Amino acid sequence: MRHLLDTRDLTRAEALEILDVAEDMADTQRREVKKLPTLRGKTVVNLFFEDSTRTRISFEAAAKRLSADVINFSAKGSSVSKGESLQDTAQTLQAMGADAVVIRHGASGAPRTLATSGWITAGVVNAGDGTHAHPTQALLDAFTIRKRLFGDDSRGRGLDGIRVTIVGDILHSRVARSNVWLLHTLGAHVTLVAPPTLVPQDVSGWPVEVDYDLDRAIAAGPDALMMLRIQLERMNAAYFPTEREYSRRYGLDARRLGALPGGSIVLHPGPMNRGLEISAEAADSPRSTVLEQVANGVSVRMAVLYLLLAGERPDTEKEDPR
Ligand code: NCD
Repeated sequence: MRHLLDTRDLTRAEALEILDVAEDMADTQRREVKKLPTLRGKTVVNLFFEDSTRTRISFEAAAKRLSADVINFSAKGSSVSKGESLQDTAQTLQAMGADAVVIRHGASGAPRTLATSGWITAGVVNAGDGTHAHPTQALLDAFTIRKRLFGDDSRGRGLDGIRVTIVGDILHSRVARSNVWLLHTLGAHVTLVAPPTLVPQDVSGWPVEVDYDLDRAIAAGPDALMMLRIQLERMNAAYFPTEREYSRRYGLDARRLGALPGGSIVLHPGPMNRGLEISAEAADSPRSTVLEQVANGVSVRMAVLYLLLAGERPDTEKEDPR
């Protein structure tokens, strides 16, 4: 793997390889000494143009546990705020010897620009670009679903026939987009539930069903329910009448939680708006995988950095197709 930009680029075999290597990484994270020497001497730059807490520290923890050197570069307070372009920033990182660049950017497509520009030779990992994609989040979600539903040793397994329902602010969600394509590639059935105003126009081209009624979608018996954050910071118009009305129709409250089939799980990528899209009962219930998602995120990002920087296995070795 040369870069990780979008789950749409991943074949089933590539996706399973990442999930399986992440299982290996998770095994090492149960040891007392969590650090592996694998990426000693490599430099990973976290290039964050958008605010982030958990994704940045997750990549930082992943890189450090593989013994890479980590440079955190956040755009606030940097020369980017003085008008330096992405090109100049990238070339500076190249001159400093970055082996991998983990980029989060407000503009959809910025990571691909960086990867294909020729400005840098480093591998590029998309840590969230605009409303477009967030591939490591989708991979950690798939990993979490697989582990909860099939147990610890589920290496080699996809999510064939698993029913995943994604609820909420699909329109602004790169998490939803990346999940839709990855879940489809892994064989899951995906249903999106949202008010019509929060369903993107191009959804007709996605491999999903759309329902506007959360109670009906829950009655259909999903194996996994993924609640999305209402992204108020991306909303420039009124997409729903009031927060109270949104919660009433699309929030996961105690009643809806109780209506889910036994064994089903509840995911949320964080940060949660407790009381808006998810109630405290749901967020803290045994069905909730929120904290497992955070822990699994480190294992999945270790796997991605490993495959990018050290782990070309001979059978998967190939040039970047783009
Ligand atoms: C997501 C993101 O940034 O896209 N969060 C995350 O990566 N932890 C989802 C969100 O912000 O709602």
